[in-house]
Amino acid sequence: MADDRSGSPALRPIEWTGNAIRVIDQTCLPGELVHRTLADVDSVVDAIGRLVVRGAPQLGAVGALGVVVAMDESFRLGWSGPRLAAAIGRIRDARPTAVNLAWGVDRAERLVVLGRDAVLAEALAICAEDAAANRAMGRLGADWILARCPEERLDRGLNALTHCNTGALATTEWGTALGVVRELHRRGQIALVYADETRPLLQGARLTSWELTYDGIPHVVQADGAAASAILGGIVDVALIGADRIAANGDTANKIGSVGVALACHEAGIPFVVVAPWSTVDLATANGDAIQVEMRGDDEVLAWGGIRVAPAGARAHNPAFDVTPARLISAIVTERGVVEPASGQTPLELREGGGSTG
Ligand code: MRU
Repeated sequence: MADDRSGSPALRPIEWTGNAIRVIDQTCLPGELVHRTLADVDSVVDAIGRLVVRGAPQLGAVGALGVVVAMDESFRLGWSGPRLAAAIGRIRDARPTAVNLAWGVDRAERLVVLGRDAVLAEALAICAEDAAANRAMGRLGADWILARCPEERLDRGLNALTHCNTGALATTEWGTALGVVRELHRRGQIALVYADETRPLLQGARLTSWELTYDGIPHVVQADGAAASAILGGIVDVALIGADRIAANGDTANKIGSVGVALACHEAGIPFVVVAPWSTVDLATANGDAIQVEMRGDDEVLAWGGIRVAPAGARAHNPAFDVTPARLISAIVTERGVVEPASGQTPLELREGGGSTG
């Protein structure tokens, strides 16, 4: 994730070693930079379920490489065809909301009949395409925002709010929404990033802040509950989020708390921008009502660091995602172009790669 300003070496959170997926264990950040090697299906499924790897585009890449891991394990252990298919199905189903996971697995699995080399080539192509898409979205998103921000705000530099982690750690490199922030910073246009901490797993406080520190981008971490007043108080110029699944009408599933940010932006009249690769657009899903939201365990909310913080007997409501209605979304930025759902456009307009680009 190097840029002209930081000179930091690019951070590549996933790598293919030749026979395994080497990943950064995101549960250990920011305290320790630990790598894990995922060399069998159980490890891949466990890493996805525990958010060792995470973020929709990264799940697509890991899912596709996971098919190669499954094939290798199948050769080693002499699995039958149905057993291999079931193992691949476990990877596909490891988390339900990010469409990229099933998309990546399916794209690789289609080629199993052609052999390991073909599957590996497809998985590596998915990784390369994601990296290129992130750079393209960074440019398109920055252009779109700069064209719409009032002159006086540009003069003092933009204050951008982010939710969850949408950087290199959520992708293969660079990032989606955070890739736009990186591009704005590269152009000298960022004054300050407000990074929502993102309860309950703190992807913003732990991961986004780690990435922004790595690149030397000025930022503050704020409690999720501080976002609405920051937006209504006029200190935020634009909010940017990623996406786990974008329905055909533009309704967008993303990390829990995104809807509140969108409502506040709507009220304040500032842009709420979704940045996601085309692989996150699910045209087979008509609208947000049809998106399955992952429900996660009570302990993530009721305990922290293994210590119970809620009274014994308390139960949790822990949806990992929410769905922002298209009418609250100023722009969806993909590598194919930009659509403006709040003005009635939908991702369908980008189906053939067309659409507005600025
Ligand atoms: O539960 P997570 O950490 O996988 O959730 C990730 C998000 O919600 C991201 O915002 C989304 O996947 C977009 S990542 C570029």
